[in-house]
Amino acid sequence: MGAVSTVRSMNDVRKAAMRELPERETRGFSESASGGMRGQSESLAQIGGVLFNQQVSTRYWHLAVSAPTAAAACAPGQFFYLRCGDDGEPLLRRPMSVYQIHRERGELHFLYAVKGVGTTRLAQLRTGDSLDMVGPLGHGFTLHPDWRGVLLVARGVGLATLGPVAAAANRMGIRVTAVLSAQTERDVLSESYMRSCGACTLVVTDDAGTSGVAAMRELVANILASEPIDALFTCGSQRLTALLQEMAAERGLPGQAALEEPMGCGLGVCYCCVRPFARKEGIEQLRVCRDGPVFPLAEVITR
Ligand SMILES: Cc1cc2nc3c(=O)[nH]c(=O)nc-3n(C[C@H](O)[C@H](O)[C@H](O)COP(=O)(O)OP(=O)(O)OC[C@H]3O[C@@H](n4cnc5c(N)ncnc54)[C@H](O)[C@@H]3O)c2cc1C
Ligand code: FES
Repeated sequence: MGAVSTVRSMNDVRKAAMRELPERETRGFSESASGGMRGQSESLAQIGGVLFNQQVSTRYWHLAVSAPTAAAACAPGQFFYLRCGDDGEPLLRRPMSVYQIHRERGELHFLYAVKGVGTTRLAQLRTGDSLDMVGPLGHGFTLHPDWRGVLLVARGVGLATLGPVAAAANRMGIRVTAVLSAQTERDVLSESYMRSCGACTLVVTDDAGTSGVAAMRELVANILASEPIDALFTCGSQRLTALLQEMAAERGLPGQAALEEPMGCGLGVCYCCVRPFARKEGIEQLRVCRDGPVFPLAEVITR
């Protein structure tokens, strides 16, 4: 990373946030560059009706909710802050990216791994239950109409987060190639959805020994050499983010990365999710929940 000329202090960030808050509360979202409406939301809090909540592999669950207002307002890469238990346990909501947006049916889908208390409670939701949701939150991905093709590289949470990008790109006539990485083939649940959106998918797994950095470098280099790719998108792995950063910089390609960071409020108030970014002006401390979760690939400082 280059030398840093400016460091924006936490105090500066905090002051800027306090100035922004009233605007955030009253402002409607504008049309997103991805062609999707980000909505004229007056309230971000809403109750979704659970349509189904199915275990789809040993680790992952697929949750579908009826939430027409949220579905109309949501853009790829945005997330919702979900209350996982109605008895206050856990106290904090849990952030989940939207996996599928079906505006015509008023549905939002989430694909989540059960990890701890919150996601265990989420997995107990049944058809007909209510889901207390806040969102859509954050800034999502941007797709440019003049792009010919995009490359998506996803692992872990990224398998869900990049789902709506494939759908939006397909609607805009942008060709999508997706490299989906997981421990085993059974975990690559978004593959069929991405294919249904017209994406060309390639699966790499730890089991098969195809997901390591060296193998990925070769695979991505081959794709970039053989297809008209105008931008790279990634989510879910620091080492893949670092690899794509390097490969994008070598080729002068733009990219975007969706980040995952433990959150407190999800609304830009508590500063629990701050991390450093390499901006033109120098290192800046930004809130993943509010300034992201999607950031320019080149600005992400991997760790
Ligand atoms: C913007 C955003 C979008 C996300 N989208 C998805 C998604 O689409 N699907 C999905 O499965 N998960 C997603 N996550 C991660 C998800 O929020 C966490 O897995 C969840 O909060 C864990 O809650 P829990 O109570 O089950 O586990 P906890 O008991 O809170 O934690 C279990 C373990 O997971 C770790 N952990 C918790 N939260 C995070 C986090 N945010 N980042 C990294 N590690 C964490 C903890 O340190 C702990 O080791 C997203 C996170 C963010 C920030
Ligand atoms: S989670 Fe509170 S500021 Fe981001």
